[in-house]
Formats: sequence, C-alpha cells, structure tokens
Amino acid sequence: MKRRSAGVVASVLCAGLAVGCGDSPAGRSTPSLLDAKGEDARVVSTEFWIQLAAVGLVFALVAAILVASFVRERRRASEEASPHAHHAEGVAWVIVGGIALPVVVLSALFFVYVHDIARLSSQEDRGGPIVVDVIGHRWWWEIRYPKLRIATANQLVLPVGGRVALRVTSKDVIHSFWVPQLRRKIDAIPGSIGSGWISAQQAGIYRGVCSEFCGLQHARMQLLVQAMPQARFAEWVRNAQRAAPQPSTASERAGRDVFTHNACATCHTIRGTTAGGNFGPDLTHVGSRPAIAGAVLANTPGNMGGWIADPQHVKPGAEMPAVPLNGTQLRDVIAYLESLR
Ligand code: CUA
Repeated sequence: MKRRSAGVVASVLCAGLAVGCGDSPAGRSTPSLLDAKGEDARVVSTEFWIQLAAVGLVFALVAAILVASFVRERRRASEEASPHAHHAEGVAWVIVGGIALPVVVLSALFFVYVHDIARLSSQEDRGGPIVVDVIGHRWWWEIRYPKLRIATANQLVLPVGGRVALRVTSKDVIHSFWVPQLRRKIDAIPGSIGSGWISAQQAGIYRGVCSEFCGLQHARMQLLVQAMPQARFAEWVRNAQRAAPQPSTASERAGRDVFTHNACATCHTIRGTTAGGNFGPDLTHVGSRPAIAGAVLANTPGNMGGWIADPQHVKPGAEMPAVPLNGTQLRDVIAYLESLR
C-alpha cells in the first residue's frame, strides 16, 4: 500500500514537472537578478552585494566584540578591578559602538542607496528611441511597438546595448512585468501606465515572468526577451512589419481557410488575411516566435497542435477555447501557423 502511494506521488510529481516546467527555450532555471545582463539589473545587483558586504562586516564585528568581552569579563572577575574605571569604559563603548559606528555605516549605505536610485530614475526619463507597449492579459503578454507598427506576444525583441522605453499596463487584473536579469518590476495596472526602460548588454534570450498573483495560470504567464545585434534587430523589424506570408503548400492554404472560417479568426489577427480579432495574441508571425502559450511551450508543431486541440489541458483556466477540428484540419492549421515566419 505504502509503495503504491509512493508510486502515485512520484508519477504525479513527474507529470507536474513535465507540465509545470514546459520546455521554454530560455531554459528551466529561474532567472536570477544577481545574474545581471542589463544596466538596470546591474545597478540593483551591485547595490545588493554592497549592502550584503556591509551588514556582513558589521555582523562579524559585533560577534567579535561579543566574544572578546566575554573573555575579558572572565579574566576580570578573577583580577578584581575598580568599579569606577569599569563604568567609564562602558560609556565609551556605548558612544562608539552604539552611536558613532551606526551613524557612519547607515549614512554610507544611505548615500549609496540614494546614488543608485538617482542613477536608475534619471535614466528612466531618457527612455529610448524605441517605444514598446507591454499589456498584461490573463495569461499572456501583448507586446506592441506603436512607432514601428509591430504587434507580437510573449516576445520582446530589442537591440543589444540599446535602450527601449516601456509603457506597461493591463487589460484585466493587476500583473507585474519582471525580467530579473534585465530590470526591476513594473506593475501592470488596468487604467494606468507604468513607465521605464529596458536594455540588455549581451545578446541572448532572457525569461520574463509575471510577479503579481493574477489567477490560476499566474506562474505560467511568461515572456522571452530576445536581445540581438543591431543588424539582426533591424532585419527582425523589417520582417515583423510585413503582412503574413502567403501559404505555399496545399496544406498551408487549407490551414489558412480553416483558421479564417472558424472561431480562431474572431480572436486573433493575422495581417494580410481576413482574421482580425483582437482578443488573443496577434499571430501574423507566430511561426518565428521561440515559444507559445504564454512562453511556456517551445514553438514546435507538436506543442502547437496540443495547445490548439486542448488549451484547458495545457493551461487550465486559459481563455482560449478548444475549436473542434478533425485531424486533417488540425494538421493543416499547424502547418499554416508554423509557416507564418
Ligand atoms: Cu499575471 Cu501574475
């Protein structure tokens, strides 16, 4: 009996891991603020190490004084000193250790802190030439480049070294936009716009998460920030601005018709087709995205099929309904969506 229940627990855990971790291309490990790859995160992580070093030193000092005073008191008890000298020494300790030292240490830390805050907020105003609107939805991120007329989802692309201005808001409940390796959190609040900027100093893919509990799939409301060299970024922009490519095979053509003639088209936009819904992510270039479903599934035909066939199985509570499709229709839709690069 015991062995059987252990087996059940193990299989449930495995299933939980398989679903929970997904196979997002940014990897399974939780991104760390201390593994900073962006200017903002670097200021914050440096501040963390300075504070940690300062409190560590103070702790070590206090512990050493404590031990030394125990040792001295023991020796004194056997030697017998005058109570007057004892009192004067106690006052000196209170003045130095209880007032002077804390004033010096806390003032130094305060100035470091104020300096860092000033650094972060002065840059905040400058922003960058590229503006990105980040809109939280249950449970995915809508990403728009209004000046460049680009719309995508769960994917924020930026040039390495360049600063991108962010305007963060929400369509439904409060979310919080957080890319630990690149910048601090910005709350996504319905009816208000939080601003800031983001930059990456190294090319790569960085995982972002929602850090404000927003319901059932809160933990799996993620996005991937792709930082690429300027030339590749310019190429990405040119491609993302184009309408969807025309289907080139019979299966892709059939898939487009299935998509535009079914409920898919009422929720999703594919520019260049009749699909113009704006409830779900814009899918004009969905085939070129590294991940789907709130960036928790790698963008593979198998994952795409599983997500379309049974969204509630992949993300219980998700607002995407299952559209009844037969096997051929499903295969064609997958072929079409994967061709949208
Ligand atoms: Cu969105 Cu938590």
